[in-house]
Amino acid sequence: MKKIMTVFGTRPEAIKMAPLVKELQSNGQFDVKVCVTAQHRQMLDMVLQLFDIKPDYDLDIMQHGQTITDITNRVLKGMESVLQQERPDMLLVHGDTTTTFASALAAFYAKVPVGHVEAGLRSNNKYSPYPEEMNRRITSSIAELHFAPTVGNVENLLAENVAKSSISVTGNTVIDALLSVVKEDYRFGNELDEIDYNNKKVVLLTCHRRENWGEPMKSIFRAVKRLVNENEEVEVVFPMHLNPTVRDIAREILGGDRRIHLIEPLDYEPFANIMGKSYIIMTDSGGIQEEAPALGKPVIVMRTETERPEAVQAGTVKVAGVEEESVYEAASELINSELEYLKMARAVNPYGDGTACQKINTELLKYFK
Ligand code: UD1
Ligand code: UDP
Repeated sequence: MKKIMTVFGTRPEAIKMAPLVKELQSNGQFDVKVCVTAQHRQMLDMVLQLFDIKPDYDLDIMQHGQTITDITNRVLKGMESVLQQERPDMLLVHGDTTTTFASALAAFYAKVPVGHVEAGLRSNNKYSPYPEEMNRRITSSIAELHFAPTVGNVENLLAENVAKSSISVTGNTVIDALLSVVKEDYRFGNELDEIDYNNKKVVLLTCHRRENWGEPMKSIFRAVKRLVNENEEVEVVFPMHLNPTVRDIAREILGGDRRIHLIEPLDYEPFANIMGKSYIIMTDSGGIQEEAPALGKPVIVMRTETERPEAVQAGTVKVAGVEEESVYEAASELINSELEYLKMARAVNPYGDGTACQKINTELLKYFK
C-alpha cells in the first residue's frame, strides 16, 4: 500500500485538508499519515477537534510574533526529520501558506514527490497577497501533481509551462467541508443567538492579511465604524484573528460599540453558520471568498486584487480596495440599495460540487498505477 502523508499548519489549510484526510482514510486505498506543523496552535486545534483528526506528527512550531523566516526555518527543519522517518510515497500540501512552501521544499530536498491541493491560483502581484502569491508559485514548481479548483487555475499553471498531464480540475475541498457543517436552524448556544438576524443587517467581518497590517487595516476599520454610525439597522460581528497585531487595531477603532461584537475566533461550524445568517460579509480572507458565494452572501473583499476571480466574474464578490472611502462606499451601497443587494445575493458556486476530495483520491490512484 502506498503511503500518503498530508501536512498542514494553519486554520484554513486544516479546514480544507480535513475532508481530504477523512476521504483518504475511509477509502482505505492508502496508508495515510497526518503531520501538522501547528504554525497556528489554537486555531488549528479547533479544526482538528471538530473533524476528529489525530495527527501522527505535530511539529508544534508556533511562536508569538513569529516572522515568515522563523516559520520557514522551523518547518523546514521539522519536516526533514519527519520525512526521513516516514519516507512517504507522496506528501500532500495545501494552498499558499509558509507551511505549504517550506514543507514542499523539505520534500524536494528529501526527494519525496509533492501533490499540491488548491493549485494554480494567481494574483500576478508578488507582494499581494504577501507572501502567499510567491509561496504558491514556488510550490507549483516543486509539485509533481497539481489539484486545481477551477479551469482558470489550470490555465494559470499551463501559462507557467506546468505539464498538462500533471494537472487535474477537482473543485475546492472547502466546499466539501462547508457542506458538511452548514445546517438550517443552527443554534450557537451563546450571545450570537440574541441577534435579530431578520430585522438587523448583520455584517460579518474578518480581517488579518499581512499586507493590510498598519494603515490599510485602520482605514478598513474606520469604514466599518462609519457604516455602523450611519445605519441604525447594521450590527457587526467580528471574530478576531488571534494575531495580536490585528486585535490591537480592531479594539482601538471598533471597541466599545454595542452594535459591534468583537469576539474570539469561532469554531468552523458556528462560523459557517453565521456566514449563512449574515446579510453581507466584509473580508480580506481567501477561503471566505470561496464559501460565501456558495451560501448566496454578497462579499466585499478588502484587498487591492484577488487570486479568486471566479466569484467576482459571477457578480457575488466585489473587490473594494483598502481605502476608507472605497470600502465604505461598497458596503454602504449594499446596505442601502435593495437592487444592488439582490444583484449580488445569488448562490453561485464556481468552486465545485463537494466532490473535490473524491476526485483527488481518484487522481492519486491513477498516479500510482
Ligand atoms: C497565516 C498565513 C496566511 C493565512 C493565515 C490564515 C503565512 C505567512 N501566513 O497568517 O497565509 O491566510 O495564516 O489565518 O503562512 N496566533 C495565535 N494562535 C493561533 C494562530 C495565530 O496566537 O492559533 C498568533 C500568534 O501570535 C502568531 C500570529 O498569530 O505568531 C501570526 O500567525 P502566522 O501564522 O504567522 O500569521 P497569520 O497572519 O495567521
Ligand atoms: N473561519 C473560522 N472561524 C473564524 C473565521 C474564519 O472557522 O472565526 C474559517 C472560514 O470559514 C474559512 C477559513 O476559516 O474557511 C478562513 O481562514 P482565514 O481567514 O484565517 O485564512 P485565509 O482563508 O485568508 O487564508
